[in-house]
Amino acid sequence: MPAYRAPRGTRDLLPETAAGLARLEGIAWSLSHRYGYRPIEIPMFEQSAVFERGIGEATDVVEKELFRIAPRTEESESWALRPEATAGVVRAYVQHGMQTLPQPVKLSVVGPMFRYDRPQAGRYRQFYQWSAEVIGDAGPGIDAEVIEMGIRFYREAGVPGVQVLVNSIGDRECRPVYLEQLREYFGRHAAALPELERRRLELNPLRLLDSKDPALTALVAAAPKITECLCDACAAHFGAVRAHLDAMGVPYRLEPTLVRGLDYYARTAFEFYREGAEGQQQALGGGGRYDGLVELLGGRPTPAIGYALGLDRVLLALEDAGADAGKDPAPVAFVVGADPADTAARLKVAAMLRGEGLTVRVELTPRKLGRQLESASREHAHFAVIIGDELIDGNVQLKDLEAGTQRLVPLAELAADLKRAAKNHHHG
Ligand code: HAM
Repeated sequence: MPAYRAPRGTRDLLPETAAGLARLEGIAWSLSHRYGYRPIEIPMFEQSAVFERGIGEATDVVEKELFRIAPRTEESESWALRPEATAGVVRAYVQHGMQTLPQPVKLSVVGPMFRYDRPQAGRYRQFYQWSAEVIGDAGPGIDAEVIEMGIRFYREAGVPGVQVLVNSIGDRECRPVYLEQLREYFGRHAAALPELERRRLELNPLRLLDSKDPALTALVAAAPKITECLCDACAAHFGAVRAHLDAMGVPYRLEPTLVRGLDYYARTAFEFYREGAEGQQQALGGGGRYDGLVELLGGRPTPAIGYALGLDRVLLALEDAGADAGKDPAPVAFVVGADPADTAARLKVAAMLRGEGLTVRVELTPRKLGRQLESASREHAHFAVIIGDELIDGNVQLKDLEAGTQRLVPLAELAADLKRAAKNHHHG
């Protein structure tokens, strides 16, 4: 057993997994670009109050899972690692006066988040999210656009059978009425409630609906439904979001018990699951409207919506589906040389081809040509570029390792030649 190991709940992403993650990040940035989201980077830690106020004191994320940083000096502020990006993005929106920009402001964050949770399959203490946030648009069209972009992400990533569950959790008009109903309902069953949940019943009864405690499952299923309490404005908004989804042909399922685990939500709430994998720790992503958060963090009242997709869970889902998410593309060409010692000539040709954007390997160990060609085959290169005496006349031998043919090619035409082949064979 090695003396040092990665901390519990974290993982080293070895090349295979890290390549899969990089691919997902690439899809996230491509979609961000296509849908008009601009990148933003925020610190990995913030004043704890940003999360306590933003996400809510009586949530699992803050109460149990916040990764607090021990203060270094007596007067220093209290900090915590970010458990999610939304609160930090909104803090940045307010701090930098982004409400004076044309609205909405659409922002995208990809990176690690930290939650001090009990580690288990699909639940890590450091995990990766793609967050997309739209600040300054009251919807309902944008609600549907965000949901559709999420579905598209899973499709482009190659995760089969992802569906979205949607709900409306009302606003500050109608939610208090519902919360009273919940307090009354769970109050009648107070004896059956675990200690934490009994405390939350007073502070925030909505949290009981997404409790991780199995003792509550049956009670929750029979609890009053928020959708029966929506005010006219929230009901109309929810109806319009669904009409937009219908118009785009985005399939969804109404899930009246879906309330999300963070306090900042209002109206539209949604989560992505694979069909048949809808358990507590199996959400592939989730999001919703957070119309009150900008104001809560010191800005003007501003409507907003967004989501975060859990990239680790997408990787697990792909693994599950047998997809080879992190396979490196084979090189188009492998540069070898008749003179084992002349590594400089090989490197020079490889650098020239790489400068042309080609995926190229080169043998830099002074081995015999036969051994170099073995390396080329092992890496599944399509071509071997063989450097020999022909170089004096400006030519190289180009050996097609798949077809077993070989021809003389002028060095000046080599890159164009290989590019043509790369296009036809989908290399690199
Ligand atoms: P969330 O539901 O807390 O929402 O997290 C979103 C996704 O992150 C989850 O569905 C899951 O896939 C992944 N995730 C969460 N915790 C873990 C963990 N410990 N290990 C692995 N994956 C995890 C948010 O974070 C909100 N900020 C989403 C949002 C953005 N709402 C509005 N804008």
